[in-house]
Formats: sequence, C-alpha cells, structure tokens
Amino acid sequence: MRYLYGNLTFIVISVVFFTVYFTRFLDERTSSSSGADPGKQRKRILDQHDFPTSNKGSEAGQEIRTKERKDIFFLKTHKCGSSTVQNILMRYGLNEGLDFVLPERGNYLGSPTFFIPTMIGKSIRTPNRVYNIFTHHNRFNHTSTMKVMSRNSVYVTILRKPAELYESLYNYYNFEKRYHMNLTTFLENYSTVERFKRGGSKFGYNQMCFDLGLNEKQFDSNGKIKQWIHEIDRTFDLVLMTEYMEESLILLADLMKWPLKRVVFLKLNERKSTNKLALSAAQRKIVRKLNKCDTKLHDYFFKKFKQRIRSFGVERMNTKLREFIRLNDEFSRECDVKVAESKLSTVRYQTTNTLDSECVHAVSSELVFTSLLRNIQRQRVTKLRSLKNLMKNTNDKAA
Ligand SMILES: *[C@@H]1O[C@H](CO)[C@@H](O)[C@H](O)[C@H]1NC(C)=O
Ligand SMILES: *[C@@H]1O[C@H](CO)[C@@H](O)[C@H](O)[C@H]1NC(C)=O
Ligand SMILES: *[C@@H]1O[C@H](CO)[C@@H](O)[C@H](O)[C@H]1NC(C)=O
Repeated sequence: MRYLYGNLTFIVISVVFFTVYFTRFLDERTSSSSGADPGKQRKRILDQHDFPTSNKGSEAGQEIRTKERKDIFFLKTHKCGSSTVQNILMRYGLNEGLDFVLPERGNYLGSPTFFIPTMIGKSIRTPNRVYNIFTHHNRFNHTSTMKVMSRNSVYVTILRKPAELYESLYNYYNFEKRYHMNLTTFLENYSTVERFKRGGSKFGYNQMCFDLGLNEKQFDSNGKIKQWIHEIDRTFDLVLMTEYMEESLILLADLMKWPLKRVVFLKLNERKSTNKLALSAAQRKIVRKLNKCDTKLHDYFFKKFKQRIRSFGVERMNTKLREFIRLNDEFSRECDVKVAESKLSTVRYQTTNTLDSECVHAVSSELVFTSLLRNIQRQRVTKLRSLKNLMKNTNDKAA
C-alpha cells in the first residue's frame, strides 16, 4: 500500500513537472516565432500567472508581487491625448536609463506603412535589438513589435470619443482644405461629398482603427471589425480613455506597480476651447456613422474601462483620484507653468523652474524630448557595442 502511494505521488509530481516544463517550452517557442495570428501568440500580462500562488505571503512571493514593471509598449493614437502618456513614459525611461524604440530622425516609425524593426534608427539600436519602451507614433504590427519588445512587456493604448476625435482631426490636419468646406458644411453634405481618400496621408476616417493596424478595406465589414476588436482585446493589457485621463493613469500605475507620483503630468498640446466646434447630437450621430469602426472600438473598450474601475474598486478609485489630483496640483505649482506661445491652434507652456529637470521635461515638446533621448541612447549603445566587439575579438593583444 505504502509502495503504491509512493509511486502515485511520484507519478503526480512527474506529470506536474512535465506539464510545467512543456508549457514553458511551448511558450518560448511561440514567443520567438512570427506566425500569422499574433493575437493568439501573446497572452496579456493580466492573464499570465506570473505570481507564484503556492508561496503566497512568503518573502519571495511578496517580492515578485511588488516588483515594478519597466517594459511597456504604448500605441500612440493620434489626437487622443496620447502625448500626455508619452511624456510620462519618456520621463520615466530617461530617469531609469532605459532603451527606447526610436527613429533616426523625427518622431514616426512608419505610418501609413506598418511598423517593422528596420525603422529603428541604425545608430540607436541596442546590441540585442530589444527595447524597454515603445511610445512613438507607428502603425501597429503585432508581429513586429514582439520582435523588439521583451515578452513581459505591458501593452497599452488610449482611445477617445469618435466624434470629438474626428472634430479634432478635421481641425488639426486641416481637412477643410481637402474637402473645400468646413466641418459644419461637410456634415450637411457628407453623402454627396466624395469620400476622403487617405492616399499617402496618415489621416482620415476611423483613425484609431487605422493606427491600431486594421486594414482599411475592412472598415465596412461588421464581422471583421468584431473579430479584430477581440484580437486587440487579447493583445492589450489596458486601454485608457482620453476623457478620463486621471483615472486612466491611476490604472496604468497600478498595472505597472508604480507609485502614483511617477505618472504626474502637466497638460500639454491642448487646443484653445475657442477653436473647438461643439457638435450637436445630430452631428455627432453622423460622425459616428462615418467612423463606424472607431465607434465600435470605442464603445467596446469604454464598457471595459468601466468594468476595470469596478474591479479596481470605486471607493479605492475615489481615494486615489483625490491623491492624484493633489500630486498633479503640487507638480504644476512646483513647475510654475506659464503659456509660452500659441501657434497652430496649440498652446505651448513653459516652466519658470528651469532648475527642476522633471519640470523642464514635462513641458518639452515631443520633438525636443525625443532628440534628447536619442542623443543619450546613441552614446549608451555606442559604448555597449564597443564592449561587445571587444569581447567578441579573440585576439587578446591590443594593437
Ligand atoms: C508586419 O511585421 C512582420 C514582421 O516584421 C513583417 O514580416 C510584415 O510584413 C509586417 N506586415 C505589414 C503589413 O507590413
Ligand atoms: C462654415 O462654412 C459655411 C459656408 O461657407 C459658413 O456659413 C459657416 O459660418 C461656417 N461655419 C463655421 C463654424 O465656421
Ligand atoms: C451642401 O448641400 C446643400 C443642400 O443640401 C447645397 O445647397 C450646398 O450647395 C452644398 N454645399 C456644398 C459645399 O456642397
């Protein structure tokens, strides 16, 4: 009898070990392959059992539970307040000396073409070609991002109400010139106006679906849109909402296991309200119809966002929100933000506290901040590459 139990225990243990190892083995394989359905390849961080439940409460378990995450892919959608999130990530990565996915010049990695790793600037590539933070404009290609991000990366993006987004796009990218009419007139005549062709341009209808990588040919297919939204849902760990920036950042800090102070922000790139056209209910309805994919995408993730707050705890969110508002107020007082200039219907700010680098970076424009990161990264990777070459060379005599 004892012999039988001993044997059974042995078999059970073996099966458990085998299953664990085999699953890991499969995971490793799928993460390094580049198959056809990326949505299925990557498990969301939240779905991964990365906390050992068996040693709950023990020192080791506690340590893993509270360990800060540092790798993040943030899909920067256009006109969704994504610059605010990007600025937070750039400040964080700069302070921690992390590696960014960056182009050699400017602030775009592709778009309208899909992102591929060769778009990363040659002079700023890391020796292992893997990066901690991806937060610059690109058109989402999951297979490609998996090649440049570690498999523990958190995937995040941000969405905005489609009506406000389209109004903002129309204004900012001057669709008035393309359509030869303002938005009001356009919405009265949209059925007779030739459909705006995106062509070589990055901007147009269903901007969020476009940025997130859906093929434009599928913008009218309900079935495909639905399937694709589920794929996005499987891929992204968190989808933020522009209209609820504070709540979004609280959820982001929670997901990253970061202190709230790390996500403080100053409002940048915001348009003067006099330049905004307030849409009527009827106009909003037309815009939503014209942007069917964006509307479905937003509706789906808006519902999820509310669920997310519910599972976070509404009371807890209230408390965190108070704390966060206080931190942001404190930050803007520290930085003593002033309006520097207004151009292109955008307000720019400056800080009088030029000795506080956090303030200086928080008011920096995307292009200026990106150049700074690029220069720092270029120096770092040059140094790292030279060490790699030194050790690769089997000749131990210095010339
Ligand atoms: C997406 O990325 C993969 C891997 O880099 C590449 O082979 C593929 O061509 C890309 N897709 C598009 C549509 O650009
Ligand atoms: C839009 O254009 C029409 C016709 O040119 C004009 O009557 C209207 O005042 C304009 N609306 C706005 C908000 O500028
Ligand atoms: C818009 O439509 C109205 C009538 O529906 C028409 O009178 C007007 O000329 C149109 N405007 C443009 C710019 O097409």
